[in-house]
Amino acid sequence: MLKRQKNKMQIQPPTINIFEKAVRKAGKTLLRDFGEIENLQIQSKGLGDFVTNADLKTEQILIDTLKYYYPDATYITEENGKIKGNKEIIVIDPIDGTTNFIHGIPLFGIVIAKIIDEEITDGVIYNPILDDFFWASKGKGAWCNNNRLRVSKRQNIIDCIIGTGIPHANRIYPQYLEEIDKITKNCSGLRRLGAASIDLSFVAAGKLDAYWERNLNIWDIAAGVLIVKEAGGRVSQPNGKNWDINSKDILVSNSNIHEIIQEKLGII
Ligand code: IPD
Ligand code: CA
Ligand code: CA
Repeated sequence: MLKRQKNKMQIQPPTINIFEKAVRKAGKTLLRDFGEIENLQIQSKGLGDFVTNADLKTEQILIDTLKYYYPDATYITEENGKIKGNKEIIVIDPIDGTTNFIHGIPLFGIVIAKIIDEEITDGVIYNPILDDFFWASKGKGAWCNNNRLRVSKRQNIIDCIIGTGIPHANRIYPQYLEEIDKITKNCSGLRRLGAASIDLSFVAAGKLDAYWERNLNIWDIAAGVLIVKEAGGRVSQPNGKNWDINSKDILVSNSNIHEIIQEKLGII
């Protein structure tokens, strides 16, 4: 009984309602495109980094919907860059996990976050294929489809599944193989899901116990960072320094295994 009350449904704040409207609208189109993936016209935006018609279309739907409610906000978007406005910043990644999308792998997210004074106040991640709607608002917890999210409680890294991003093409950095080697030898499995937003929401949901990646952009992770924090997880840079909205590298965990991961990564 007590547990039920603790997990009772949280009324969604107005910002989340607006973000939900935008991602669900965009999700409908994306769902259709996913079904017709082979007909999509794919243009290369650099090695290993494709942008599809679906990306552009999805972002436009998001911007059009959000601009009605937030006409004066600043928008930081992956496909259209920065649209300058007031100090309320809305960050958009229309498809996080584009490579998965292109290959018909159903792991990707439509991502929106709001940042004010360098603080992430709201975030949503929507996977239209699984119909998973993740959201968090500062102080209101982290949720997926009306279920409260909590990070896992695992304490021993050997029992843990850890997510990461394996760099490719021109994104390779020198120590990545060593990092993967050290972690994978000590845990119960490494996962490369292909969408930072999904990695983060899975840490919040207690499916992954931790996740680290380097060279990310704010639109990949802003929503997920808040979702992890609101689910009780810990967020830092891999070296333990505070993560802020300008950080490119990230380590998140259920907080119990944070230091041990840093140690295995060879950072402390
Ligand atoms: C990418 C995904 C991927 C991560 C890349 C990101 P995109 O975003 O989040 O998991 O490893 O670094 O760029 O390009 O699919 O939006
Ligand atoms: Ca992304
Ligand atoms: Ca993207």
